[in-house]
Amino acid sequence: MRVVVTGSKGQLGRALLEMMEGHTLLPIDLPEHDFTEDSTFQAIVDFAPEMVIHGGAFTNVDGCETDPDTAYRVNALGTQNVALACQTCGAAMLYVSTNEVFDGTKEEPYLEFDPPNPIGVYGKSKLAGEMYVRALLKKFYIVRTAWLYARGDNNFVTKMIKAADERGALRVVTDEVGSPTYAPDLAAAIVRLIQTGRYGIYHFTNEGACSRYEFCLKILELSGRGHIPVTPITSDQYKRIAQPPLYSVIRNYCGATALGIILRPWEEALQEYFADE
Ligand SMILES: NC(=O)c1ccc[n+]([C@@H]2O[C@H](COP(=O)([O-])OP(=O)(O)OC[C@H]3O[C@@H](n4cnc5c(N)ncnc54)[C@H](OP(=O)(O)O)[C@@H]3O)[C@@H](O)[C@H]2O)c1
Repeated sequence: MRVVVTGSKGQLGRALLEMMEGHTLLPIDLPEHDFTEDSTFQAIVDFAPEMVIHGGAFTNVDGCETDPDTAYRVNALGTQNVALACQTCGAAMLYVSTNEVFDGTKEEPYLEFDPPNPIGVYGKSKLAGEMYVRALLKKFYIVRTAWLYARGDNNFVTKMIKAADERGALRVVTDEVGSPTYAPDLAAAIVRLIQTGRYGIYHFTNEGACSRYEFCLKILELSGRGHIPVTPITSDQYKRIAQPPLYSVIRNYCGATALGIILRPWEEALQEYFADE
């Protein structure tokens, strides 16, 4: 298959490139290709792909809050540009979206059919991207995921380890709940999904859920730092620029039920992450 992968230098993009070695690939990322620009629209059309996996995004959630214009330019208009390229060359598109399109008030896992209601700029700009995909294309997948991590990156796992080593003690919130997701597991699910032709909205995260506090305890245990003390706090005691949805667990109903695509439990994936290190 001829496949375009945007965000190819990011956590998910790198995992996708590794997993799709047998395919003919066009990787798109900065600085060579900016997917908000006409030149990238043209590069995609000229490549004549069958599939475009659009994982590139402005993913800094606090950064989106302080610079909404950039968030909407990249996540909304950039996605419009990529979707229009797909429309022009007849490619199917897979858009990677986020659990942050929901407001976090449901108290049970969000289904693919639940109405989004983002509370932050990042979630709003990603939802705007979803709306362009739905309005412009017939052949699309939207895959929402959450709490992504991969080796060698600035994510929650690496941040907790760095903070533990620097400070010797941590304070972590108990009331933000989600599903940690290992980027290679998400990439494998996406590679299976794009072969089905069953277009629609999917929720792919590693199975199970935990609070940031529980996630941190597991990270410290598996990295040999179980002795580091962690104080449980609530999110009103931890001030940050963006306020993420508190309960942001998304349930994989459609992928599991219709296609049998299920990611393994988050604890198992985290174990493999540390084993691979
Ligand atoms: N990370 C999470 O916890 C999380 C949770 C839910 C959903 N998601 C979604 O999952 C997808 C993959 O996330 P990720 O963690 O792999 O992201 P990531 O590591 O931040 O990778 C995103 C990549 O896109 C690139 N990019 C940004 N703007 C671009 C542009 N205008 N043109 C070309 N490339 C551009 C970035 O380059 P620079 O680094 O140079 O900016 C980066 O290499 C994203 O769509 C994200 O919204 C992520």
